Amino acid sequence: MLTKSSPDLILKWSCSQIHGRKMDDDDDDIPQLSSHTLAALQEFYLEQQQREGMKTSQGFNQYSIGSIEEDWQLSQFWYSDETASCLANEVVVAAGKGGRIACVSAPSVYQKLKEHDGKDFSVCILEYDRRFSVYGEEFIFYDYNHPLNLPENLLPHSFDIVIADPPYLSEECLQKTAETIKYLTRGKILLCTGAVMEEQAAKHLGVKICKFIPKHLRNLANEFRCYVNYASGLD
Ligand SMILES: C[S@@+](CC[C@H](N)C(=O)[O-])C[C@H]1O[C@@H](n2cnc3c(N)ncnc32)[C@H](O)[C@@H]1O
Repeated sequence: MLTKSSPDLILKWSCSQIHGRKMDDDDDDIPQLSSHTLAALQEFYLEQQQREGMKTSQGFNQYSIGSIEEDWQLSQFWYSDETASCLANEVVVAAGKGGRIACVSAPSVYQKLKEHDGKDFSVCILEYDRRFSVYGEEFIFYDYNHPLNLPENLLPHSFDIVIADPPYLSEECLQKTAETIKYLTRGKILLCTGAVMEEQAAKHLGVKICKFIPKHLRNLANEFRCYVNYASGLD
C-alpha cells in the first residue's frame, strides 16, 4: 500500500514496477510512473515544501518544542508549550539569581529555558537521545540505567534545582533516576511523572504532589503530575 509519508517506499515500489516490466525490443520510451504513484509523490513533496516553507518563513527556532520530533521508542512525549513555560518559570524562580538548573530527561523544559536565554541562570540538559547534542556543551549524555555515570566535571550537589521526567512509569526507573537527582541537587527537586508514582516518588525523593497538572502536546492515556520537595508556585 502506498503512503504519502514514505517517498522511499513509493520510489522502491515504482522502481520495481519499472524494472519488473518486460521491455519490448522496440520499447525504448522512458518508463512512466503510474498516475497513482505520481500523485502520491507530488502530494508528499508538496507537503514537505510547505513544512520547509513554514520553518523559514517563521524563522526556524532551534529551541522550539518539537524541533526535535518525538520518538515514541524512547518514551518521548513533549509538554505543551504552556506547560513547558510554567515549568521553566518555576525552575528559574526556584533556582534564584545566578542559579544552576539541571533538566534530566526533560528536554522541552531545557528548550523553553533557552528561549529565555540571557536571563540570570545557567542550565544543563541530561538526555539519552543524542539528537539533543546539537545544543553543544550544555548537553550531557545520560542513561538512567547508569545513574552515576556522569562526567567528572559534573560535581555533586552543584545544581540549585533538578527537574526530571523519567522515561518509564516503573519503580526501578524512578529509583535509578532518583539517585542521579540526589547526586546533582543542592536540595530542590521538581519531578514530573505519572500520578500512579505518587507513593514511590515520596519514598525515593521525599516529594509531594502539586495541584498543577502538566499537559502534553498529545493527549496521554496516563495521568501526569508534578511533585516537589519545596514551597513551589505549582500549587
Ligand atoms: C516521558 S519523556 C519526558 C519528556 C518531557 N515530557 C519533555 O517534554 O521534556 C522521557 C525522556 O526520557 C528520555 N529517555 C529515554 N530513554 C532514556 C534512558 N535510558 N535514560 C535517560 N533518559 C531516557 C527520553 O528521550 C525523553 O526525553
